[in-house]
Amino acid sequence: PQSPPLAHVFKGTFVHSSASAPLEILPGHLLGVDDNGTIVFVEQADQLEQLAKTWGFKTSDIRQLSKHEFFMPGLVDTHIHAPQYAFTGTRVDLPLLQWLTSYTFPTEAKYQDNGFAEEVYTRVVRRTLKNGTTTACYFATIHTDSSLLLAEITGKTTSFLPFFRFVTELLEKKYPRVQPIITPRFGPSCTEDLLNALGDLAQTHDLRVQSHISENEEEVKLVESMFPTYQNYTELYDKNKLLTSKTVMAHACYLSEEELKLFSLRGAAISHCPNSNFSLCSGVLNVRKVLEHNVKLGLGTDVAGGYSASMLDAIRKTMMASNSLQINKVNGTGITLEEAFQLATLGGSQALGLDDVIGNFEVGKEFDALLINTKASDSPFDLFSADDFEDALQKFLYLGDDRNISEVYVAGKQVVPFSSSV
Ligand code: GUN
Ligand code: ZN
Repeated sequence: PQSPPLAHVFKGTFVHSSASAPLEILPGHLLGVDDNGTIVFVEQADQLEQLAKTWGFKTSDIRQLSKHEFFMPGLVDTHIHAPQYAFTGTRVDLPLLQWLTSYTFPTEAKYQDNGFAEEVYTRVVRRTLKNGTTTACYFATIHTDSSLLLAEITGKTTSFLPFFRFVTELLEKKYPRVQPIITPRFGPSCTEDLLNALGDLAQTHDLRVQSHISENEEEVKLVESMFPTYQNYTELYDKNKLLTSKTVMAHACYLSEEELKLFSLRGAAISHCPNSNFSLCSGVLNVRKVLEHNVKLGLGTDVAGGYSASMLDAIRKTMMASNSLQINKVNGTGITLEEAFQLATLGGSQALGLDDVIGNFEVGKEFDALLINTKASDSPFDLFSADDFEDALQKFLYLGDDRNISEVYVAGKQVVPFSSSV
């Protein structure tokens, strides 16, 4: 039987991470995407004739990339506060607990106003898509109506939202690309009863969980004093059924060996948010140690504790965090740029339990992808004749921005540049 027509056939260079290699460069390859947005082949270009026969496409259907273009997987932001986008790039001059009470709680209170929410949420979704984020794990606020708006706006891409009254609607697939997530803010904003009730809910409905953990030393001490019967912060979540294989916890800068072991045992993930950790002077996560403990790890922007809504910035700050530990002679901490790239793509998909669907260009996964042009006319960096492909890739990762991201695809559908309806 004839296969259904393909939505795309691209020919050029594809860059991604695999289980065995943090960075794989596939030059001269053909990649096909079917009508459902699924990758159906990734093959050397010399397989053209056979592929064309099997999939029924013509040479003229192939989109040939230029030598300055390549595809990479969409970026996965494992921790971002949509409401805090309103003050991104400002107010990062206080430590966490004072920052929360002075700036964050008053701003988040404004989301009872749907008009305000619609403006900010539209902008954060557009900005992150332009920046190449194709999957995001969002915090919203306690307001149901404005949070529904966020679900509506993100509905075209993939995102997770806190758990609300409308969860049943979500589960009824009104927004098939949005999934609910149980979101206790962090230890100090909860009572034991609340944590326990949320843990029951997560367990009963097999739901995702997100929160913050051990971000700042003052916060850790506060949790110890508020919950003295627990051994540590991790146990507070674990004993209340909130540390599961569907959990992602942001920061984790001050976890003990014992706590990391419990994360690994439960299959819970950590979201590393280095921009936020530096901006709020919170701490520095030892990424190597987390990986050595076999804990799932992704990167997050943590807008607006982090001042950038770009996952490229998260890659760069991951390098700087790793370098700062090396400067301070913390043993065996160095992370390579290739590993940081892996954490921002495949690692994020693993942290969110979506690595069977997204994260790289394996056949059978959805085509979530960024078309990168390292010689865009308004590129913020320069290439010279001595630069090879790997130099261009590194320059993009360290210096590039949305001007180099010429197209963004979510499940095979081109979403950037924006059509007028977005
Ligand atoms: N801990 C509790 N709430 C927050 C928040 O909004 N941002 C950050 N960075 N940490 C938190
Ligand atoms: Zn956060």
